[in-house]
Amino acid sequence: MKADMVIRNGTVVTPENTFDGGVAIHDGKFVAIGTNDSLPEGVEEIDAKGKHILPGLIDGHVHFREPGMTHKEDFGTGSRAAISGGITCVVEMPNTIPPVTHPEQVVEKKKLAEEKSLVDFALLGVIVQTNADQILPMARAGAVGYKIFFGETIGNLPFPDDGVCQDVFQNITESRLPLCIHAENRQIMYHHLNRIKEEGKTGAVNWESTRPYLCEAESVHHAIFFAETFGTKLHVLHMSSKQAAGLVRDAKARGLRVTAETGPHYLLRQPSDMEKVGPLLKMNPPVRTRDHGEALWDGLLNGYVDMIATDHSPHTLEEKGADIDGNMLKPAIWDCISGFCGVETGPPLMLNEVSNGRMSLNHYVKLASENPAKVWQLYPQKGALRVGSDGDVTIVDMDKETAIDITKLHSKNNPSPWHGWKIKGVPVMAIVRGHVQMRDGEPVGGPIGRMVVPTPD
Ligand code: DOR
Ligand code: ZN
Repeated sequence: MKADMVIRNGTVVTPENTFDGGVAIHDGKFVAIGTNDSLPEGVEEIDAKGKHILPGLIDGHVHFREPGMTHKEDFGTGSRAAISGGITCVVEMPNTIPPVTHPEQVVEKKKLAEEKSLVDFALLGVIVQTNADQILPMARAGAVGYKIFFGETIGNLPFPDDGVCQDVFQNITESRLPLCIHAENRQIMYHHLNRIKEEGKTGAVNWESTRPYLCEAESVHHAIFFAETFGTKLHVLHMSSKQAAGLVRDAKARGLRVTAETGPHYLLRQPSDMEKVGPLLKMNPPVRTRDHGEALWDGLLNGYVDMIATDHSPHTLEEKGADIDGNMLKPAIWDCISGFCGVETGPPLMLNEVSNGRMSLNHYVKLASENPAKVWQLYPQKGALRVGSDGDVTIVDMDKETAIDITKLHSKNNPSPWHGWKIKGVPVMAIVRGHVQMRDGEPVGGPIGRMVVPTPD
């Protein structure tokens, strides 16, 4: 019997292995992985000569803005950007309008996304002061986990106070899903922001000093204490500092279920870059000095920072308060909105680091596919080249050289600090459950994306 699709003549890459061969997909699942002559015939045959065959890449942190902020992004444009970058599955954030505080909003967002998405997706609920009783109902509606915005963010969502957090952490433990946190202590943040304002330090380069490392580290420490007390799985989003990374390392060493992600901007950029790209690089938490970036690399290479995620958070140029070259058009950096698109630029930026010798392609597969699937309890349905797993594949050309051109990005809003970055190593084809959804960096498929639900342990 023929398989629906066979990809052969490539180099298959898993976290543990690299070998010549390919994969076969039937009814949306892998049915064989192996050398060329071990694979069945395919109705559709794809020749991956000279290319590497990776399990579908996952971006565990994107804001696709729907419903409520579709002038910034929607599931159609966001998923086109994702697939163009070789991402086959995303975890989508709950700070939409309305925010995902109840099971009804999980169901509503699922419906909206399934009408438009080119990639598979998982959805998070958000926990505020008043919805601790919605934690288990949201799990039953298919949420992949929960988020608390300890830091201030788009949508100005309040966080549960410490009294309520006791019930929140308890209920989340009962759900067996992870809690992820935007870890920034608001009191520390406002203290520094007010000082910078008083001193009239309006320039973009001052952004990091409004939220120094202590702001993040205190919040991570606080959440780890609650997680340890209540036995909750905790995931630290967009980790930016050496000190927070140290806290996660120590928590893991104590045997806690604490995980963390970081992103390309924290690994490769620094505050002084904002002299050139201004508000385009404004993000919360902010990018920090290189010593922090190097500590995060150490975490990724030594297993205490689990994964790479981009925090894709598009805004209009007007909201960014900048022109496309990064000149600031508002009076002060605090008037400019924070966040920028990243889902499409993430894989090429990190593949370029593979080309630079910073990590092996095997390790990149672990950080960008296997580990995000494990953190979000989607493994081995996602994140694995294994018989029975979803037939998601990202094919990359490690010889291809290019430069990031933000005018070619597929997000609804392309302001980005990465324009002109030279890249070696590019995703050239992406397949979701046996459907070719991207060729040569362009989306080609239809809205076949489905919600994935976790299998909690
Ligand atoms: O800078 C940010 N912008 N950080 C976040 O965590 C959220 C994001 C957004 O939604 O725009
Ligand atoms: Zn985010």
